[in-house]
Amino acid sequence: MSIFHLAHLSDLHLPPPKGAFGWRDLLSKRLLSRIAWRRKHREHRPEVLAAVIADLKAHAPDHIAITGDLTNYASLAEYEAARVWLEALGPAHEITVSPGNHDALVGAKGGDSFAAWTPWLGDDGAATFPQVRVRDGVALFNLCSAVPTAPHLATGRLGQAQLDRLDALLGDPAYRDAFRVLLIHHPPVPGAVARRKSLEDLDALRALLARHGADLVLHGHAHEAMVSTAPGPDGAMIPVLGVPSASALGERGHPAARWHGVEIDRQAHGGIEVRLVARGLDPRTGQTGELGRYVLIQAGRPDRSTAQRP
Ligand SMILES: [Fe+2]
Ligand SMILES: [Fe+2]
Repeated sequence: MSIFHLAHLSDLHLPPPKGAFGWRDLLSKRLLSRIAWRRKHREHRPEVLAAVIADLKAHAPDHIAITGDLTNYASLAEYEAARVWLEALGPAHEITVSPGNHDALVGAKGGDSFAAWTPWLGDDGAATFPQVRVRDGVALFNLCSAVPTAPHLATGRLGQAQLDRLDALLGDPAYRDAFRVLLIHHPPVPGAVARRKSLEDLDALRALLARHGADLVLHGHAHEAMVSTAPGPDGAMIPVLGVPSASALGERGHPAARWHGVEIDRQAHGGIEVRLVARGLDPRTGQTGELGRYVLIQAGRPDRSTAQRP
């Protein structure tokens, strides 16, 4: 049988290009983000991201999931710079982007604000959410929790319309036999981040997971390696994984840059094993390499997970 290699990275915080900030931004949340970026830019380094991407590409994953915060203050110049970066990363049908709060700071109105990224949002040819991409028996449900927020807040929200569509998609028999992966920027886990950074409709999303189930949830936003679970139907536990930033030096209290390789191994007897390989920057050596690996799901029984923090 086949192994599907899904790479997960997040929170790129690409350096803003010149012209990404203008006088119009002086009265907006972008000013605060600009100030925050001055503090953060030493932590998020393009050369670190380049090393992580080189390591990721050397492993030739079947698909790449990016769970948001490609930009810092969501200007048009940053959207365009991120689009150019995504084009260089690989074919759009092999890369799925779930936007983050930093990608939706000002003036965002629904999916239209991500029009420049449409080829990486799904196969629908539109900037709408959720979208489902099926690749070799793996169904990727791409959600968008990125919404504009008041200054000093970094909350996320799916909204009732998106939750209703997700309800219908997760219940669709067309995806019943697929390995179902949800992509979302904000962790759908109570207490995973401070309240001002949390997902507002977390309970509603977890209620959908409890009703319909899923096989795996991948998120970013926390800039931490996180392993948790969400209850599924019939006592099953759905693994929920967060990956640290892919560009971090690791000098501000968060881990250095990482990406996760998720190996979805459909076995001949009908069982399944999902393994997670954490790779990234070793701050002591400045080199990228394997940081740890563990079995996440065995024999298709998430409740038998042997998950440990990588
Ligand atoms: Fe972030
Ligand atoms: Fe974020």
